[in-house]
Amino acid sequence: MAQLIDGKIISKQIKDELKEQVTAMKTEGKEVGMAVIQVGKDPASTVYVGNKKKACAYIGIRSESYELPEETTQEELVTLIERLNRDDAIHGILVQLPVPAHIDEQAIIRAISPKKDVDGFHPQSVGALSIGQKGFVSCTPAGIIQLLKRSNIEIEGKECVVIGRSNIVGKPMALLLLRENGTVTVAHSRTKNLKEVCKRADILVVAVGRPKMIDASYVKEGAVVIDVGIHRGADNKLCGDVDFDSVEPVASAITPVPGGVGPMTIAMLMYNCVEAAR
Ligand code: GUN
Repeated sequence: MAQLIDGKIISKQIKDELKEQVTAMKTEGKEVGMAVIQVGKDPASTVYVGNKKKACAYIGIRSESYELPEETTQEELVTLIERLNRDDAIHGILVQLPVPAHIDEQAIIRAISPKKDVDGFHPQSVGALSIGQKGFVSCTPAGIIQLLKRSNIEIEGKECVVIGRSNIVGKPMALLLLRENGTVTVAHSRTKNLKEVCKRADILVVAVGRPKMIDASYVKEGAVVIDVGIHRGADNKLCGDVDFDSVEPVASAITPVPGGVGPMTIAMLMYNCVEAAR
């Protein structure tokens, strides 16, 4: 039986720690503020943005909501971001992605001040991470490090395999595991002998984006398996990139879907926002 790494419990711990800090900051006259921007009405984005605002309310962060129409121009969005960059009451700026196709996503990310880049997507934040300097770290991989640390899973010296090389998860994940002195391999869709590569892993982080792709044949006995995927199956049930029922008996620890990595992303966004305010 694998240890279940419970993201609901660990994210709640983090949010409760932040709530205490935010309350203390308030008594010193400092209120933490976050701007949450959504352009258009993508239903999934609306759910994510709603959850982020709820987390702000729980912790005591003041959130300012900007729900902009689909037709918003890039210039209008940049103008809003620049105004928020100058606003001393706003410590974090979040633009929910994806933005509509007529807006250049990278230009929007670059418009956010690195001091308020609570998503950790700005090239300066990414560069800082890659050379081991201070900066905001992308929330999902930062959350995974917290899951491992708070479950007393050592990273130092371990064979870590990350499947996926996205800017938001795979690449920053690899850099964070390296920073923790793991031995890191990044696998992806063109990797040859993916199974053999995965079977080397003491810690396997799966962000492939394919439902239940990773079964027990990819996993070494006793490995720690972190599942970043989330999909709704034909049976209407949520599942990850990992075939949980197949992998759970061989792993020493595993994250469930839902309730594993997912809740950690928002907790780390809140963490970044409190950091930004300090
Ligand atoms: N869309 C999907 N995930 C994210 C995220 O972590 N941050 C933002 N801003 N948009 C997203």
